Amino acid sequence: MPATRIIIDTDPGQDDAVAILLALASPEEIEVLGITAVAGNVPLPLTQRNARIICELAGRRDVPVLAGCEAPMSRPLVTAEHVHGRTGLDGPDLPEPTMPLDDRHAVDFIIDTLRHEDAGTVTLCPLGPLTNIATAFERAPDIVDRVARIVLMGGAYFEVGNITPAAEFNIYVDPQAADIVFRSGIDIVVMPLDVTHKALVTQARNDAFRAIGTPVGVAVAQMTEFFERYDKEKYGSEGAPLHDPCVTAWLIRPDLFTGRRVNVTVETESELTMGMTVADWWGVTDRAPNALFIGDIDADGFFALLTERLARL
Ligand code: BDR
Ligand code: CA
Repeated sequence: MPATRIIIDTDPGQDDAVAILLALASPEEIEVLGITAVAGNVPLPLTQRNARIICELAGRRDVPVLAGCEAPMSRPLVTAEHVHGRTGLDGPDLPEPTMPLDDRHAVDFIIDTLRHEDAGTVTLCPLGPLTNIATAFERAPDIVDRVARIVLMGGAYFEVGNITPAAEFNIYVDPQAADIVFRSGIDIVVMPLDVTHKALVTQARNDAFRAIGTPVGVAVAQMTEFFERYDKEKYGSEGAPLHDPCVTAWLIRPDLFTGRRVNVTVETESELTMGMTVADWWGVTDRAPNALFIGDIDADGFFALLTERLARL
């Protein structure tokens, strides 16, 4: 099987960082064409910086990193320093990046890449608010049919919300963008909180990262340790949920995940439930399925894969 060629659209974020590292550690299965940063967990100047820090940590200064939209399509930016810390990448003490930011705009990069590469050969992997992706679709509708697939982290059904009682963070930050993406007709695979809350970094799993003994292994252990204080306190869980790495793990080992093809519609009007992903899990409407909505994961298999791959960097 040829490697899946992807653009990672991201707002790092410790879990975004691990997702990127997993992709970069897996060249047989994944070819990263570029990393496009978006405002989300922290503002854009930090997310693009953090993406470059991660590329350097992985020894991959050759991967283009581009800055995209600094605010959602029609709402003020909401950030999550309360989860990820002031820099978005709190935990390890990593050096400031020296690799340059690519001077193209992320939205132009997404459009140009999809127009330039053969149709149906580029997969989009959004790990943050969908602003860059939806802006590209609005600006260049011809690219929509050229996308092979979207595999994204966002939304929830049974777990409902994490940033509000009704909504998951990535979708809540830019519900208009999410609505555009879910209505695009593209084949979408969704990693909602329903599955990511089952991918918990327990102490033993954190120890396994640290035991890799490399700068990457130690940094991942420190990042997940920082990130877990919030979720442990909030949910009383055993450790941090590794949301975004579910996306890149699915590209490598889809057999670790199970889900259902359902209709997913995003709430864009009610302030009370803004950004809620209404997933027709039980098939009680006649709305056509538009996504594979993942519900379960072989968590031990997922962490074994992660540890084995991170050790390669
Ligand atoms: C999502 O929001 C961010 O905090 C994480 O990076 C993840 O993408 C989880 O709701
Ligand atoms: Ca993210």
